[in-house]
Amino acid sequence: MASGRGSNLAALLSPPPPGSTFPQRTSPGRFVAFATDKPGCPALAHARASDLAILEFPVTRATKPEFEKKVITHFLNHGVEIVVLCGYMRLVSPEFLRAFPKGVLNIHPSLLPAFPGLDAQRQAFDYGVKITGCTVHLVDDGLDSGPILAQAAVPVAHDDTADSLAAKILAEEHKLYGQTISDFCCGRFQSQGRRRISPNH
Ligand code: GRF
Repeated sequence: MASGRGSNLAALLSPPPPGSTFPQRTSPGRFVAFATDKPGCPALAHARASDLAILEFPVTRATKPEFEKKVITHFLNHGVEIVVLCGYMRLVSPEFLRAFPKGVLNIHPSLLPAFPGLDAQRQAFDYGVKITGCTVHLVDDGLDSGPILAQAAVPVAHDDTADSLAAKILAEEHKLYGQTISDFCCGRFQSQGRRRISPNH
């Protein structure tokens, strides 16, 4: 699911760079369906180019429950078991999470639990941290609060701007998300309470 630019989606759907492991090649998972709450968003073009089964539905606060019901039906009809959020800009409901008990994954552009919510790269930059990064986590019913699967650190250089920092984080996102999804689909994560542990993370 995505709402915007879709660079993470594009990275996930691209052929893997040599030496890396991406879901299509190495895990039992493959991408089959896509849904957006923003018809016409750039992410949609990437989904179309990869022949995913597409659902577009313009969402307002009033129509979000209807949208989620349509997405659940669309995904279940296409055999979706794990949902990947790629810049999907809404919270998902407990009902939605219950429909996909194997997991809903998200990527967030900070080292959670620091700087949840919108504009996390700028939040971290303005706060003055020396290291930030990105986090892949399971979605729960809070804001960027689910169990952490993987993180990548990005040092803040003295001459960084909020924009240059965001670009560095995005490059790490594109590497981390595919690898983590692949490991998740392969069942490489084990649970210890809230902790999620795999040989790679
Ligand atoms: C990324 O920064 C991601 O971490 C956040 O939303 C942004 C989506 O970017 N959840 P893109 O649409 O994948 O380019």
